[in-house]
Amino acid sequence: MKKIQISPSILSADFSQLGNEIKRLEEGGADMIHVDVMDGHFVPNLTIGPPVIKNLRNSTKLPFDVHLMISPVHKYIEDYSKAGADIITIHPEATDNLIDSINLIKKLNKKVGVSLNPNTKLDIIDKVLDKIDLVLIMSVFPGFGGQKFMPEVIEKIKSLKKLKEERKLNLDIEVDGGINFENNKIVIQAGANILVSGTTIFKENNGNIKKNIDFLKLV
Ligand code: DX5
Ligand code: ZN
Repeated sequence: MKKIQISPSILSADFSQLGNEIKRLEEGGADMIHVDVMDGHFVPNLTIGPPVIKNLRNSTKLPFDVHLMISPVHKYIEDYSKAGADIITIHPEATDNLIDSINLIKKLNKKVGVSLNPNTKLDIIDKVLDKIDLVLIMSVFPGFGGQKFMPEVIEKIKSLKKLKEERKLNLDIEVDGGINFENNKIVIQAGANILVSGTTIFKENNGNIKKNIDFLKLV
């Protein structure tokens, strides 16, 4: 059983203080930093790109768990690798050739993740499961923090965990969107070992990051 890890999303952070916010997350016990990259095309929101990530890189030694909600994604992968991403997660709908994009991320010696929107079926990644490090299951439609968790994805998490066990894969299962103290346990019991959270970590318990991270890990 993999250790439960927390990847706080900086989408809910104070963007005028991103470096300090990342330091607060590290002090609060974050295992990695979830960086939500949005292009206003693949998703209806625009956030940050490689120059900002490059400047944030020295704020922490924690891995940058970079979630690319951009399309087309293939031609930008190298930019995010150079900027300091440690995990690069892409959406299958955002590339013309998923295998090529996966192989490029691996060639750059980065961990590779594939993200499934709530309405994207597991079978789209069936043939690549043994080639990737992580599956990011979206429990909201991507684009914004603070949305409501979609419980219908729990079956998908369970099915993925079953596939992972049957094929003896060393795969991280990360869940992203609307994670809070009411649903974290059911998501972990379903098979997730990495939880993404923005709103809950930054806003609950008067913004006590350490308390919120510790609570999210409790099963
Ligand atoms: C949504 C992002 C998520 C989101 C999580 O498109 O991918 O990472 O920021 O934020 P909360 O925890 O507020 O749902
Ligand atoms: Zn995300």
